[in-house]
Amino acid sequence: MDKLDALETDWSVKATAKRRNQFYAASQSKFVPFEEPMVFKRGSMQYLWDADGNRFIDLLGMNVCVSVGHAHPKVVSAAMAQAQELTHCTTMFYHPTPAHLAEELAATLPAGTEWVTHFTNSGAEAIDLAMAMARTYTGNLDLLALRTGYHGPTAAAQSITGIAGWRHPGMPGNVAFVAEPNQYRGIFGEGTQPYLDEIDRTIATSTTGNIAGIVVESVQGYGGIIEMPPGYMSGAAERVRAAGGLYIADEVQSGFGRTGDHMWGFEADGVVPDIIVMAKGIGNGFPLGAVVARKHIAAPMAERFLFHTYGANPTSCAAGRAVLQVIKEEKTQENARVTGAALLAKLKDLQTRHAAIGDVRGRGLMLAIEFVKDRDSKAPDRETTSAVFEKCREQGLILSKSGPYQSCLRMVPPMCLSLEDVEKVAEGLDAALSAARSS
Ligand SMILES: Cc1ncc(COP(=O)(O)O)c(C=O)c1O
Repeated sequence: MDKLDALETDWSVKATAKRRNQFYAASQSKFVPFEEPMVFKRGSMQYLWDADGNRFIDLLGMNVCVSVGHAHPKVVSAAMAQAQELTHCTTMFYHPTPAHLAEELAATLPAGTEWVTHFTNSGAEAIDLAMAMARTYTGNLDLLALRTGYHGPTAAAQSITGIAGWRHPGMPGNVAFVAEPNQYRGIFGEGTQPYLDEIDRTIATSTTGNIAGIVVESVQGYGGIIEMPPGYMSGAAERVRAAGGLYIADEVQSGFGRTGDHMWGFEADGVVPDIIVMAKGIGNGFPLGAVVARKHIAAPMAERFLFHTYGANPTSCAAGRAVLQVIKEEKTQENARVTGAALLAKLKDLQTRHAAIGDVRGRGLMLAIEFVKDRDSKAPDRETTSAVFEKCREQGLILSKSGPYQSCLRMVPPMCLSLEDVEKVAEGLDAALSAARSS
């Protein structure tokens, strides 16, 4: 710690804001949540402390990265031990830690398939690779993606992202979008079949008819926690495979037990994907992503080199191994199921008392409330979302504004959230909603 202190970090909010404004590029400084800046200094499990020592419940899990808890002692000590021994070992040399992690990840996936892993530095890199893998394996270019899906900041990942605010000009093509099966405000209303019919129509009209695949978040995250209705993932896989394509599950937000009932979101529908993309929670905050694919599907990629400098970095992979161990030992998935159900019930109760809440949804610890101007028109209410969000800060709650209209508050906390926390979250939200209404 002495050495770090010697770096003379100025922790004041004012100085940090000034430095950011002066030295960050616009592209990095735009994405700030609150009207007034905030500096976090410390985290422990589901809690965060700002530079003044105020405690917050982190319902955002630092953007779903903190899966098993901030600074979880087992994860930190596994990563520290590896960092002190050999911080980095470039992928072309052999190292046992990533190899163990690849084996341990495969063991979490549906049996009867030979699963192989390619480690990346981030989710977007993993998405890029999954897209390249599908195109290489099938020999087809066209991909399907869902509206209101988010897949990352790289050019390829942006090209399949269906939220305008995250798309920059000049991204690559060969992508056709299908309507997301949003059961609250989807264009075909409730149900699964109309959204599957839309996949058929899109393949027939907006592609060459031969496709490389479809990329589906098993539960859409930034889109505002949009669950895939029963039969959608399996139905989509069936249709896409019939057109020569692969089913690619993006589990960057919904994986690692977050949905409570399953380790992987796609398991809710019994579909076995061809390619699975993971990141965020895999490293509990250490940068790591992974593409896990059926062995024969990954095989043709060997014709050319593909090298991520920090992919398979042993320090991040040591953290990844510890995460899997903690999920098992501390029954994290079960906790997500139980506390998630309790929080969902509390949110539904709030909906009965606050007319601004149009919808409450999600499963496990992937939940959202959506604000509307009135319940009949379902017009998204960005202003109320923002006002409640700001008031939540005063209540010691950190969440995220999400959805294509920024009208949802998304809750994806570290999966160690307790039932006691759930009470505090419900009380805090209640107070924030009342304060926002009277302000
Ligand atoms: C569902 C989903 N896929 C992919 C990504 C991209 O991951 P990363 O930010 O690590 O590049 C994200 C990031 O938020 C995500 O939410």
